[in-house]
Amino acid sequence: MRFLPIPAGFVPATGLRSVWRVDGRAYAIFNVEGTLYVIDDSCPHAGASLSGGHIEGRTVQCRAHGLRFDLLTGCMQNSKTFGVRAYGVEIREGQPHLVLHETSTAT
Ligand code: FES
Repeated sequence: MRFLPIPAGFVPATGLRSVWRVDGRAYAIFNVEGTLYVIDDSCPHAGASLSGGHIEGRTVQCRAHGLRFDLLTGCMQNSKTFGVRAYGVEIREGQPHLVLHETSTAT
């Protein structure tokens, strides 16, 4: 497991979102009521950007075809097996860090 510091310029304010591109990956970062959620910015259905999706509670709805994903788990609504990769966020010394597990490490 490793921790990747999220640069301050990519940490969205409450109610906003950002896209952080690093190590060949694009991360969609959402701030929902003060909690940061990070998912891959690529819809697993057909690859549309999820960062511009409609947010309702902790759910993002893809603008392309309307699939909905839980921002915490990445799972599609009503499914536990299909979804987008979701990442943990840990605050270390006041700075949010992306938690990368072995399987989520960018190559
Ligand atoms: S690309 Fe996201 S629902 Fe189709």
